[in-house]
Amino acid sequence: MKTNYNRWLVYIVAIIAATGGLLFGFDTGVISGAIPYFQPYFGIDDSMVETITTAGLVGAILGALTCGRITDRFGRRKIILIAAIVFGLGAMWSGLATSTVQLIGARLFLGIAIGVSSFVVPLYIAEISPTKIRGRLVSMFQLMVTIGILVSYMSDLYFADNSVADCWRPMFLVGVIPAVILFIGMWFLPETPGWLYTRGREAEARRVLEKIEPPQMIEQRIAMIAAEIENGKKQAGWREIFRPWLRNVLIICIGIMFFQQFVGINTIMYYCPKIFMMAGFTDAVSAIWASVGVGLVNVIFTLVSIYFVDRWGRRKLYFLGMGGISLSLLALGACFLLNARLGGFGSGVSILLIFLYIAFFAISIGPLGWLIITEVFPLRVRGIGSSLGSLSVWIFNSIVAFTFFKIVRLFTLPGSEITVQGETIGNPAGAFFFYGLIALCGIIWGYFYVPETKNVPLEKIEAHWRAGGSPRTL
Ligand code: BGC
Repeated sequence: MKTNYNRWLVYIVAIIAATGGLLFGFDTGVISGAIPYFQPYFGIDDSMVETITTAGLVGAILGALTCGRITDRFGRRKIILIAAIVFGLGAMWSGLATSTVQLIGARLFLGIAIGVSSFVVPLYIAEISPTKIRGRLVSMFQLMVTIGILVSYMSDLYFADNSVADCWRPMFLVGVIPAVILFIGMWFLPETPGWLYTRGREAEARRVLEKIEPPQMIEQRIAMIAAEIENGKKQAGWREIFRPWLRNVLIICIGIMFFQQFVGINTIMYYCPKIFMMAGFTDAVSAIWASVGVGLVNVIFTLVSIYFVDRWGRRKLYFLGMGGISLSLLALGACFLLNARLGGFGSGVSILLIFLYIAFFAISIGPLGWLIITEVFPLRVRGIGSSLGSLSVWIFNSIVAFTFFKIVRLFTLPGSEITVQGETIGNPAGAFFFYGLIALCGIIWGYFYVPETKNVPLEKIEAHWRAGGSPRTL
């Protein structure tokens, strides 16, 4: 049979998926290697660092809150093009900032692009991919986020130079490159057939479908889009997801994202060179080296998770991961507490524990959180449901990033303080115990609320909720 659909289009969509995820990850990770340099450069304390980091997250919350409406109105493609411009300008502004106020503004601005793209890019991919490879392209986006974090650590390492006071500038400026690639790629790509169809542009929708699907699939997809729109008309919107029969689903969605963030993952992602310096590394360059290790472990174990998630199922991975996360956090707390007595040996063990912690996160609640929120909602509210999930992530993420150093100070036992770059900061032992205890609570919570969705058709999941079934018995 003749297949006249364009392979190149599929490859370009894959590259866009990759670049969109890469930018999201890059801008998550880049700040960590820049902090040890811009902090002394501007002479600011840890709470100012927290404010700058959190500004990006507040931007992401704003982006995630507003993007649903604007992408429906203006189309996915236009919004991604605008996001690429904001990414580029934001990276430039961050790199050229001459004051901390400017840096806060630049991160806030860039954050909006992160929030918007974390929602629109996966949506664009899902709507434009040929049916056969949709799942693969969507999960590639997730993997690319971790690769983006790794790339940002490597580029931080490349520019880190203890003898150049403003070497943090090029670290931010590199972010312009993926933004330009995203913009150029997107320029040549069409709008999604689904969006065109909702705007009454059926002929154009067909033309796009002819490029991405083999001919025998086209009518089927048009019918699917029409049915989806018909379904959408009956949607009750936000109120629908607060119905009693969906209460457990809401608890699952918000709860899993709560634990994903409150085990403290992003304290490592944002502040890891700093944490490595607390663990005993004496200079920023070697601490950034260790962060590259963290980024690499994160990517490798995300791959491991993708391999096992449909073989072992969600619950097994969840308990294995959360068990490992709590043990490594509690042990890490103990190491920092005995820091003075353990000396160099203690530093070695704490670094090993940080790697273990990342590995356990990456095989479990990292990818599982994102996966489960797309599975548990009935089709009619899946869009709203998963945007609620990503909004929760950004909110919890900001709280953790904004409070980390405050918690460190609050839980520091007198006499156990650590000095880094001439500044005496608290001891993170108490903070790690705190996150470890939250992880233990997460295990108990998970026993009741983490559903086993492996091999369960999505329609069956809906029937289970309607019948009043509990998450545990799915
Ligand atoms: C989380 C992010 C985190 C990343 C680390 C994701 O699942 O949502 O907040 O930075 O994992 O790989």
